[in-house]
Amino acid sequence: MSVFPQMRLRRLRQSDWMRRMVAETRLDVSDLVLTAIVSDAGPDRVDVPSLPGVQRLSVKALVEQAKKAADLGIPALAIFPNISPDDKSEDAAEAANPKGLVPEAVRAIKKAVPNIGVIVDVALDPYTSHGHDGLMEGETILNDPTVEMLAKVGVMLAEAGADIVAPSDMMDGRIGAVRDALDDNGHSDVAILSYAAKFASGFYGPYRDAIGTSAALKGDKRTYQMNPANLDVALREVELDLAEGADMVMVKPGMPYLDVISAIKSEFGRPTFAFQVSGEYAMMKAAGQNGWLDFDRIYLESLMSFKRAGCDGILTYGAIDLAKNLKTNN
Ligand code: PBG
Repeated sequence: MSVFPQMRLRRLRQSDWMRRMVAETRLDVSDLVLTAIVSDAGPDRVDVPSLPGVQRLSVKALVEQAKKAADLGIPALAIFPNISPDDKSEDAAEAANPKGLVPEAVRAIKKAVPNIGVIVDVALDPYTSHGHDGLMEGETILNDPTVEMLAKVGVMLAEAGADIVAPSDMMDGRIGAVRDALDDNGHSDVAILSYAAKFASGFYGPYRDAIGTSAALKGDKRTYQMNPANLDVALREVELDLAEGADMVMVKPGMPYLDVISAIKSEFGRPTFAFQVSGEYAMMKAAGQNGWLDFDRIYLESLMSFKRAGCDGILTYGAIDLAKNLKTNN
């Protein structure tokens, strides 16, 4: 093995073309999934103070956003609803309403922008009055009744035209139940992106503000979302979800869990996604707005780290601006 002074690693860092030529990882617009928040209240675009740069969109504005994303080559978007407090309830009935905001948004996008993939969370938290991802009895989150409900919601979303459904609740057994329900109802082509390793994280705060669950949320989600201390459990979660029929698995949040992404990708070699969540985005934006950090630069760097860790795709709030930057820089 040749070593210094014969070997000099700086030799291949001398110029931009050389650095590009030997780059091990590339970020492409096809790696990005745009996350978007749709709302049934108020004007077309409403700022979310704790999530700078992201707005709650009306269905009309969401369709425009989807069009923009598709034109830039972004393959898919993931929709999250901010619904009126009047439509939230203990039993989350609105989650299964085929005339609800999300199915309406899905139909509108599929009609106007047929060349973008639509991913929808199968989740109850935007619809429960207590803000949890499961049905409750007293203080307890009920696993099996929640799973039963999620299976119905999954079918309803598929019927509205969702291409990919994404159970994000961390109940046990929900992937198998959603898969069976989809297949039994003629939706064997609808794919499942499982939020397989979803951690009980402090980084979800701005999202909860955006969908309007922060104030209502009682307690925390530690009896179903994972302990941030655990990696072995993440591998078990993924193993079970794949066995139950998940087509793709996801880690969430992203930046604090790059080791988890890397372990999952090397252990299973399946399509592996990460969700760069609201708090990660807000943190970088805030530092950028204060002039402390160069947002464009750190954002790109953060997304590159996901690719290096082995991600096949990244859900992120800044996909549109990033896709524009990738276009002008290439
Ligand atoms: C829960 C859900 C969460 C997010 C999306 N769906 C987390 C939570 O509130 O526990 C977070 C997304 C983000 O922070 O950007 N079904």
